[in-house]
Amino acid sequence: MSAQSSFYVTTPIYYVNDEPHIGHAYTTVLADVISRFHRLSGQETFFLTGTDEHGQKVLTAARARGVDPQEHCDEMVQRFQRLWERLEIRNDDFIRTTEERHERVVLDFVRRIDAAGDIYDATYEGWYCIPDERFWTEKDLLAGGNCPLCERPTTKLTERNYFFRMSRYQDWLIEHIRSNPEFLQPESRRNEILGFLRKPLGDLCITRPKSRLGWGVPFPLDEEYVIYVWLDALVNYYSAVVDRKRPDGSPWWPADLHLIGKDILTTHAVYWPTMLKSAGLPIPRTILAHGWWLVEETKMSKSLGNVVKPISMADRYGHDAFRYFLMRDMVLGQDAGFSEESLVGRINSDLANDLGNCLNRVERMIDKHCARTVPEPGASGAEEQELERIGRRTAEAVPALIGELKLHAAIEETLQMVRATNRYLEVKAPWKAVKEGGTAAVASTLWFSTEAIRLAASLLSPVMPAKCGEALHRLGVLEDPAELVSRPLRADQIGWGLLEPGTEIRPGAPLFPRIEQT
Ligand code: ME8
Ligand code: MG
Repeated sequence: MSAQSSFYVTTPIYYVNDEPHIGHAYTTVLADVISRFHRLSGQETFFLTGTDEHGQKVLTAARARGVDPQEHCDEMVQRFQRLWERLEIRNDDFIRTTEERHERVVLDFVRRIDAAGDIYDATYEGWYCIPDERFWTEKDLLAGGNCPLCERPTTKLTERNYFFRMSRYQDWLIEHIRSNPEFLQPESRRNEILGFLRKPLGDLCITRPKSRLGWGVPFPLDEEYVIYVWLDALVNYYSAVVDRKRPDGSPWWPADLHLIGKDILTTHAVYWPTMLKSAGLPIPRTILAHGWWLVEETKMSKSLGNVVKPISMADRYGHDAFRYFLMRDMVLGQDAGFSEESLVGRINSDLANDLGNCLNRVERMIDKHCARTVPEPGASGAEEQELERIGRRTAEAVPALIGELKLHAAIEETLQMVRATNRYLEVKAPWKAVKEGGTAAVASTLWFSTEAIRLAASLLSPVMPAKCGEALHRLGVLEDPAELVSRPLRADQIGWGLLEPGTEIRPGAPLFPRIEQT
């Protein structure tokens, strides 16, 4: 992870037209896990999420329910907030685009772009896709006149609007992307955007006439218009921190990391940096676009009726196990398949069979053979040295992999150590050794294996704060099992060799009971 002393990470702000599904849960859990890792390494961290409440989608959803749009937002936002609480998400702020503190900054932002000479008005004739809120030219359209993005029918519109001179910043943006390889990740997305920028970049329509769509922030230069929802929405990342300072007194803006799905890459990688450049503001360090969670190889959508509800997954399998699955089974940047079978399979193999079982074994033996007290490690032989080597390597590899945003690999490294510990226990067979009177050897075996499981629980604590807190409580490291839910371990609690002999342990029931597949 970077040596910087503070870190600012964001999720997209989600549309409140619908209930959250696992895609939304994924990005938010990802941001939470990354924040927790940064906090653990001692960085002051600011984690922002929120909701996107203006525009056609939300207005249509409110109308369909026959309620006032603000009332609709006030109700829907709670579904997101409740889900984040249920999943033990610890965001530092939650921004809603209908809040005054946000709208005020959006107005200022538009004025800055205008002061740079980058806003003009023009009458535009084009084909408009209502669900996507986008204008297309004739040649963009699919056969039959449908929208090239969502393939739904478009409507012909002639309209006077205001435009942002985005085209002016094309060369600058290409140069910025080329000279800052960390700006767009993964590399496939960076190439996608560079490919997109090979064609001339058009200007961006940034208003909607109130007569057609009134649900938005009033456009400060003409009272007949509201601001286009994407301009309004992107500014959230800036408006939330405009009045806050990093611990060293510098502003929180620019963000260190914007996490997004690949569906909103162009708005983040092209609209947002060019808008910021025009407004004279710094641009974010990194934008990471992850892939999609697919259900039976198609994207989840309400119309297909294949939406997976995150709350029911958390209720059925526990929120920590659900978080673990999301982080372990998606390789950042690629698509991943979601099914309840794969979730159960992952819980049974990694959590019940490997991690839970290892903890259970050492607890039972310390209980039985060492009077519930962590023994002194004796002399270490070849196997102990090997386990120690694996432990030290894992403690170094995990933060490095997190810094490279390879969370699945960081988790897998940790699980490899757990599996090595289970193998070590089988080789040493302390349950046999104890009968043969090798008490000193048994004590040593139990210290080394317990140390490895302590380290594993510490390294996994950002992913599963409640379960890992409980594991560390049982091993006598933490007084309060719920401590890690709101407070991270310290960086100096991660490393090999910290398990204190003489600590009393607290054995308990299996941490992750096996789930019988029906
Ligand atoms: O686009 N797999 O909001 P949105 C993975 N309001 N991630 C998914 C997903 C899936 N199947 N479905 C959704 C918007 N996501 C705008 C954003 S930001 C200034 C404005 C996640 O409610 C993923 O992070 O449609 C995706 O980018 C986001 O939800 C889109 O959420
Ligand atoms: Mg969407």
